[in-house]
Amino acid sequence: MENGGPIRWRFGGNDELTKASAITIRGVLNTLMENLKPEDSRPVIPLGHGDPSAFPCFRTTPLAVDAVCDAVRSAKYNGYGSTVGILPARSAIAEYLSKDLPYKLSPDDVYLTIGCTQALEVILQVLARPNANILLPRPGFPYYESRAGFCHLEVRHFGLIPERGWEVDLDAVEALADKNTAAMVVINPGNPCGNVFSYEHLKKVAETARKLGILVISDEVYDHLTFGSKPFVPMGIFGSIAPIITVGSISKRWIVPGWRLGWLITNDPNGILKNQGIVDSIVGFLNISSDPATFVQGAIPQILKNTTNEFFTKIVNTLKEAADLCYDRIKDIHCITCPSKPEGSMFVMVKLNLSLLEGIKDDVDFCCKLAEEESVIVLPGVAVGLKNWLRTYKRHLIRSSLWLSIGMPLLDNSKLLGWALENAALNVCYFAGQVFGTIEFGDSQIFGVGADFSVDKHQ
Ligand SMILES: Cc1ncc(COP(=O)(O)O)c(C=O)c1O
Repeated sequence: MENGGPIRWRFGGNDELTKASAITIRGVLNTLMENLKPEDSRPVIPLGHGDPSAFPCFRTTPLAVDAVCDAVRSAKYNGYGSTVGILPARSAIAEYLSKDLPYKLSPDDVYLTIGCTQALEVILQVLARPNANILLPRPGFPYYESRAGFCHLEVRHFGLIPERGWEVDLDAVEALADKNTAAMVVINPGNPCGNVFSYEHLKKVAETARKLGILVISDEVYDHLTFGSKPFVPMGIFGSIAPIITVGSISKRWIVPGWRLGWLITNDPNGILKNQGIVDSIVGFLNISSDPATFVQGAIPQILKNTTNEFFTKIVNTLKEAADLCYDRIKDIHCITCPSKPEGSMFVMVKLNLSLLEGIKDDVDFCCKLAEEESVIVLPGVAVGLKNWLRTYKRHLIRSSLWLSIGMPLLDNSKLLGWALENAALNVCYFAGQVFGTIEFGDSQIFGVGADFSVDKHQ
């Protein structure tokens, strides 16, 4: 407004964005972090997020680093790439993924994305026609809900069954689907449950999708990170039963989530996705979006070719050790139960028995108090769709399970709890150092030295 009156600004924020981001894991974690006490000198134990690169025992292979340096130095990747990704990278990924499939993927089946996150964004947006709905697992990865909500794609939830190793409740899938259902999502290996689906179960998923006339989005961002009785089976194997969109990235297997290189794959030997217009829409979306950094794309052929099995095995063994320790400790704690031993990915879901927890209202309250009293961050189940469950990241589980096992009966006496933790932590941390790297507790330092985790104990 002229003449000294107040100016009326004509712009404002987009409320839909604020709403969509309210249910992200990062949003919940930020709330928990607000409960940390600034005067607590102990390091924060972050068990709530899925970024293993924060921990010294999870370092990517130097061969991957060399590949990126070579790509940068070559000066061949300083320009814009093609919107679907540069051809050498797409060819290398097609070859890498075809090793586990009964047919050969072509580079044209591969679309490069900014992490697996953008691959999800692409396919959800592609499917978001008016009135369409999508079937999502509960518990699951809340980014799906946020993103679907933002593009007005209706979400319906089917359960994962804890007593059956978190298998998909296929009866629920059939009951939920209608003529507007476009797709169902499976996450394998699973976040947040640490489950791995068997070949037989995935086949049934594909058969159900075929019966319903829907496609399957298979989130395989944790591909090959399995350490139980079941091997990793790519859903694409069943691409001739129903069309499968696989999404993945190098974030987890190579421990480089910050490199932001992911992919979307059309596993569709019968050409159904093309006939239904899905392929054109994927290309259309990518034509109007940004791409992963070209030099990371340029490094991909070398990364995939040079990485040794020894590197992969070491990462999987570290995860397995953590999962075994965690599961065993949890068995001794009365107020939490783990219905199914984790066999893959980096997480475990445990259930809280609130009747044994004096003064705790629910999972969020539990996690806030855990942050406040012990500087331990654990994700409440409500953030992944299950109330009064907890998702923890397996790296430092020793301290959290110790806290739970010793701390719970003492929850109303935090001084005693602190004493118990400080004193009992030592011998347990010995193992933690062995498995995970360096941990420090007040005056006591436990060192896991170098990559082979030999242990030196100082008191
Ligand atoms: C199930 C699942 N899908 C997708 C992603 C995103 O992967 P990226 O970091 O490659 O974007 C994550 C990250 O934690 C995840 O857990």
